[in-house]
Amino acid sequence: MDAVTGQTDAAQANTPNVIEMRKVCTRFGTHSVHTDLDLDVRRGEIFAIVGGSGSGKSTLLREMIMLHRPSSGSIKILGADLQTISEEEAMILRQRWGVMFQHGGLFGTLNVLDNIGLPLREHTRLDDTLINELAAWKLTLSGLKPETGLQYPPELSGGMLKRASLARALAFDPELLFLDEPTAGLDPGGAGGIDTLVRTLHDLYRSTIVIITHDLDLLWQVTDRVAVLGEGKVVGLGSMMELSQMDHPIIRGYFDGPRGRTAQEQAQKLNKE
Ligand SMILES: Nc1ncnc2c1ncn2[C@@H]1O[C@H](COP(=O)(O)OP(=O)(O)OP(=O)(O)O)[C@@H](O)[C@H]1O
Ligand SMILES: [Mg+2]
Repeated sequence: MDAVTGQTDAAQANTPNVIEMRKVCTRFGTHSVHTDLDLDVRRGEIFAIVGGSGSGKSTLLREMIMLHRPSSGSIKILGADLQTISEEEAMILRQRWGVMFQHGGLFGTLNVLDNIGLPLREHTRLDDTLINELAAWKLTLSGLKPETGLQYPPELSGGMLKRASLARALAFDPELLFLDEPTAGLDPGGAGGIDTLVRTLHDLYRSTIVIITHDLDLLWQVTDRVAVLGEGKVVGLGSMMELSQMDHPIIRGYFDGPRGRTAQEQAQKLNKE
């Protein structure tokens, strides 16, 4: 029995989708970002959302995590209907997912270790020693050195900030992890490290991971399925191999450039090794 949803394990196993979006419309004034958008994310998969700048990826993520309400349509996350959820249920639900934001979102006045421990400090009665130990473990897991825990966010490089933000997203060992542009702005070495990190987290927690990214290497190397956003909808959905064979012009735009071809060749080479 799940203490939060009240569902039995068997009932949970029968609902393979951890995210279900139906006929979601999002408008800002007269600007329509999503129109009757449908999207399902299955339990345990590494799922990516791609699309041009301004296609509504971050907004979609903000809707999934209750930071923005769509103009119409329904969203179910981990079995909860976001339209009808109570404040108390929403508070519990928020602890079942972790979010690494596009721009980090850490508090500049707290050191890294305190930033990572903050969700536990706010929502549990664990004592300080245990919180610091758990935060230190998440720091290591995210690939940062122990001494980084004592630094402040403005002192960190872009790559370190992303890892620190990820460490905080792991505070509650989330069953659902959202990563908004985890490799954007990193040099190729740092971006490569994030691929490995995503796989490690998936192996360790068996969580569902939703990634928003433009990074073709990451897409080829870690994702199970990818949704391509365009024209306010999902214009393509499938594995990278399946998408690479689809004809839609927005999808072709991703695969036909020189970067698209290099990433595909690289992924095929890695698969053969
Ligand atoms: N709070 C807001 N008020 C008005 N317009 C908004 C708001 N948030 C997003 N938008 C608009 O919605 C559209 C989608 O924005 P969003 O940030 O979701 O795009 P994105 O796909 O994440 O782009 P990027 O790849 O550049 O991060 C944009 O045209 C943006 O200007
Ligand atoms: Mg965005």
